[in-house]
Amino acid sequence: MTDALKVSGLWVDYRTKSAWASAVRGVDLTVREGEVVGVVGESGSGKSSVALAIMKLLPANAKARGRVEVLGKDMVGLPGKDAHRYRGSGMTMIFQEPMTSLNPVMRVSEQLSEAVVSRAEHYKLEMFRYDSVAVPGGPDPRLSIPQGRPAPPPKEAIEALHQVRIGDPERAAAKYPHELSGGERQRVMIAMSFLLRPRVLVADEPTTALDVTTQAQVLSLLLGLSRDEGTAIIFVSHDILVVGQVAQRVAVMYAGEIVELGPTEAVLKNPLHPYTRGLIASIPSGFKGGKRIEQIPGAPPDIMRLPSGCKFNPRCKFAMDRCRAEETALKELEDDHFVACHLY
Ligand SMILES: Nc1ncnc2c1ncn2[C@@H]1O[C@H](COP(=O)(O)OP(=O)(O)OP(=O)(O)O)[C@@H](O)[C@H]1O
Ligand SMILES: [Mg+2]
Repeated sequence: MTDALKVSGLWVDYRTKSAWASAVRGVDLTVREGEVVGVVGESGSGKSSVALAIMKLLPANAKARGRVEVLGKDMVGLPGKDAHRYRGSGMTMIFQEPMTSLNPVMRVSEQLSEAVVSRAEHYKLEMFRYDSVAVPGGPDPRLSIPQGRPAPPPKEAIEALHQVRIGDPERAAAKYPHELSGGERQRVMIAMSFLLRPRVLVADEPTTALDVTTQAQVLSLLLGLSRDEGTAIIFVSHDILVVGQVAQRVAVMYAGEIVELGPTEAVLKNPLHPYTRGLIASIPSGFKGGKRIEQIPGAPPDIMRLPSGCKFNPRCKFAMDRCRAEETALKELEDDHFVACHLY
């Protein structure tokens, strides 16, 4: 399968009052067509910074370095206006807080209809790009965008709201985003991404605001999107169990670095990094047959004051002198299973 998304050597720095600090420190990650890759880690580990850098949506006080190739095109180097063209049906993001991405002055039905129109226009452009032959004498008719807005396709929009289990979709479609609950807004966002049928979808904690039943339904819908449409999905979550339900591979982040990466089953059943083991040991139930929950001691580091050597060393019970002196790098220990730790 081809790589839909290829992140290499990605750094994200933020300017704060006193100095610049790095929130993402040399991340490499690929997602193939139809694959779901999970990104897990504690709060502040840099998950959203990676997601925003991929989408080229970082705030003004951030600077990204490295390469982010989406469908073979470099996003980091891309001027803002071109990046905009790639958002939509090329790639879409579902945010932790859906209010930031819904338009407050448009009814839900209009926003869903726009998604359908934007998908149609995108595929027209894509078609032109892919079987691009120079058309002598004037613009390609396939590129002409119809005058006026095509009639909204309420059936498809309502169907999408049905899919994400919004009770009474017709009623919800007639509302403005602020008239919906947080969970309903999140479902509208997800319905919108179904309508867009993006090639790459970045989902940042998409189900955190939902109850467990809806969460399970939405996860299976996301899986359907990757399986049926071949959408490449980056699924960000602080919950390694949720990631385990959807992702074929999982990347564990700590202090802006990927410290473990591998097939989900291998990482969950045979975690190699002490941090990953800590994350799994702190799962309330299930996996450990009633053993006492162990919390990882200490707290994640402040990115302004990272320790030298392995960034996890102050919290690690296996830390040796080398861990305090030497940085770590990912090594492949088993088939496709990588870990950044001096124990190996
Ligand atoms: N706009 C910003 N300005 C300055 N620092 C920022 C900014 N956004 C994030 N950071 C810092 O970058 C680091 C990584 O933050 P990020 O939001 O990427 O983490 P996260 O893993 O998504 O956390 P969470 O699970 O809480 O969403 C944190 O130390 C955070 O304080
Ligand atoms: Mg986040």
